[in-house]
Amino acid sequence: MKIFVARKIPEPGLDLLRKEFKLEINHYDRVLSKEEIIHGLQEKEGLLCLLTDPIDKEVINSDPNLKMIASYAVGYDNIDIKAATERGIPVSNTPGVLTETTAEMAWALIFSVARRIVEGDRFTRAGKFEGWAPTLMLGQDVSKKTLGLIGAGRIGTAFALKSKGFNMNVLYVDNRINETLEHELNAKKVEFSEILKKSDYISLHVPLNKATHHLIGEKELKTMKKNVILINTSRGPVVDEQALIKALKKNWIFGAGLDVYEHEPEIHGELKKLDNVVLQPHSASATFETRTRMAVIAAENMIAGLKGEIPPNCVNKEAFKEKIIK
Ligand code: GLV
Ligand code: GLV
Repeated sequence: MKIFVARKIPEPGLDLLRKEFKLEINHYDRVLSKEEIIHGLQEKEGLLCLLTDPIDKEVINSDPNLKMIASYAVGYDNIDIKAATERGIPVSNTPGVLTETTAEMAWALIFSVARRIVEGDRFTRAGKFEGWAPTLMLGQDVSKKTLGLIGAGRIGTAFALKSKGFNMNVLYVDNRINETLEHELNAKKVEFSEILKKSDYISLHVPLNKATHHLIGEKELKTMKKNVILINTSRGPVVDEQALIKALKKNWIFGAGLDVYEHEPEIHGELKKLDNVVLQPHSASATFETRTRMAVIAAENMIAGLKGEIPPNCVNKEAFKEKIIK
């Protein structure tokens, strides 16, 4: 069978795939256009895609041979899951292996914004440091503050558990009670409006869907405390970027740490001018270890899916029912 790999992933994943299949790999080090993906997919049974690839209905239906889509990411909002399911095509993601790594990035952003690390570095390099001063680069304490978690799934939970050393008061918003957080941190499940009003740090850990699109907008930002630091390592469109820019400019909140953007890879020019925001290039899962594990997992899912088995990280098990009915 043949696989189209939409962009080069770490070798250990490619090696696993090579043992089983014939690979066609995008050899440009860039994102392919939709047309290029459709072209690459011709006569391939498998597609290994990235979160930057728009895998819509047209792509999914472009070749009748397609039998399996393995994505090299945990988030799969870029894939039309319904269209894949209708054709009986399983789709897999890479959960679990990037949980701790992504949670660590959220903490890196918290400290970067709270203690103005990036701004301080720029200041120091520019030769502006003239000696210790009583009110130079004042930031926010983290210890004993209130941490507000929006989304308490795998990543949100791992992130919140790391607050243990900082003795924080943890609040969370989720559809379900999170026993781990309640037991380990004495965390409290609260209403969305309450988390906005009470938190000193708000970190977003929800998937992007209709319900979470622009979850944080002008109204929500205005409700937050003035010292709030907002962290987004989930998906850009969860935050209304225009509203966030306004909030940062008008100091409705203290700052923000962003790994994702509403119109990636474009970043609003205004955002780049502000000192109270730290910007990362969607790199929360980017460690040597994690990206290698993601490649292996994506390959393992592909292999299982093309053998007709349910891939270990299948996000649309219903696809198999469709297959049986057909
Ligand atoms: C990263 O954003 C991912 O979804 O893996
Ligand atoms: C800071 O360096 C202090 O000694 O207070």
